[in-house]
Amino acid sequence: MPTPKLFAPGPVDVSPETFAAMSHTMIGHRGSDFEELYASLRPGLQSLIGTSRPVFTSTSSAWGVMEGSLRNLVRNKVLCLCCGAFSDKWFDVANKLGYEADKIQVEWGEAIDPEAVRAKLAEGGFDTVTFIHSETSTGVLNDLAGIAAVVKSFPDTMLVVDTVSSLSTVPINMDEIGADVILAGVQKALALPPGLAVFAVSEAATERAKGTPNRGYYFDFLEFEKNDAKNNTPSTPSISILYGLQYILGQIEKEGLENRFARHAETNAMIHAWGARHGFQLFAPEGRRSKALTCFATPDGFDLSGFIKELKTKHNLLINGGYGKIKGTTFRISNMGNETVETVQELIDAMDNVLG
Ligand SMILES: Cc1ncc(COP(=O)(O)O)c(C=O)c1O
Repeated sequence: MPTPKLFAPGPVDVSPETFAAMSHTMIGHRGSDFEELYASLRPGLQSLIGTSRPVFTSTSSAWGVMEGSLRNLVRNKVLCLCCGAFSDKWFDVANKLGYEADKIQVEWGEAIDPEAVRAKLAEGGFDTVTFIHSETSTGVLNDLAGIAAVVKSFPDTMLVVDTVSSLSTVPINMDEIGADVILAGVQKALALPPGLAVFAVSEAATERAKGTPNRGYYFDFLEFEKNDAKNNTPSTPSISILYGLQYILGQIEKEGLENRFARHAETNAMIHAWGARHGFQLFAPEGRRSKALTCFATPDGFDLSGFIKELKTKHNLLINGGYGKIKGTTFRISNMGNETVETVQELIDAMDNVLG
């Protein structure tokens, strides 16, 4: 039996075509073949992130760049906007790194209120804000433009945005909204194997980094910028994943970004409609729901682990049973990556079959 097809919110299913692209003959990373590969990624990544800034690739998962952003930017105090497992953990990471950190904490399943951010920043002393656009643990899609507008009204306050489970599913316009770092891992909506993160850094954040001590080496923004100018990376990159990324960016260009967003909206709505038919309540509030995944509250008495297990053993499909402190009381279904109306319909038919 092959391993199950993944409808869990990352890593997601990787297509055979992507794996084929990744099986390109190995090349050295300090030569012209690599420089061509690297340069070929730039336009597609810039259009995904909505920036004319360079877009860097980091051979790490997203956490590397999430931690690295703090190391490059925090001088005084960081404000962490916490609304679920990943955003809460960013606060813990800031503390582990020894930074002075404060947070706005909302109940899991709620979105961050931009006005609460304004009130907190008005207390003074913060120079960096961490923010997760799509909180993958709860399925909440936070108000990126609203939060960015508030943070921008506080001079010299850097906004670091995790778009791990939103990039390529909804529009992101880094330059227009004035975000300072946009970052994502590639194993979610870009449907690549894990091990690579992509990120862009504003001019203001680059200037900030210049005067920040103890930036380290591996995630030093200035090292990335220096090497990007030569179409290269500071350290040996994950060349195979970069070939996969080149393939995916080509697919995105063929599909068209607007069509990609529409596909995610449509397949996401199919899963919402499936849940409504079975009386499953959405965990995220109306108007603030991710287009990449759906988080349902597990009804009382519902045998969630039995459902997930039977879907796997009978249909070889994998969905996910909640994350962090809402493991068991919620479950999540992804429509990220290459999933289409047809493949999501197959999942829905299989889930209906299991529910009987
Ligand atoms: C929103 C979000 N941020 C950060 C992460 C951490 O990513 P990684 O484990 O790839 O570093 C995840 C992983 O699921 C995520 O969903």
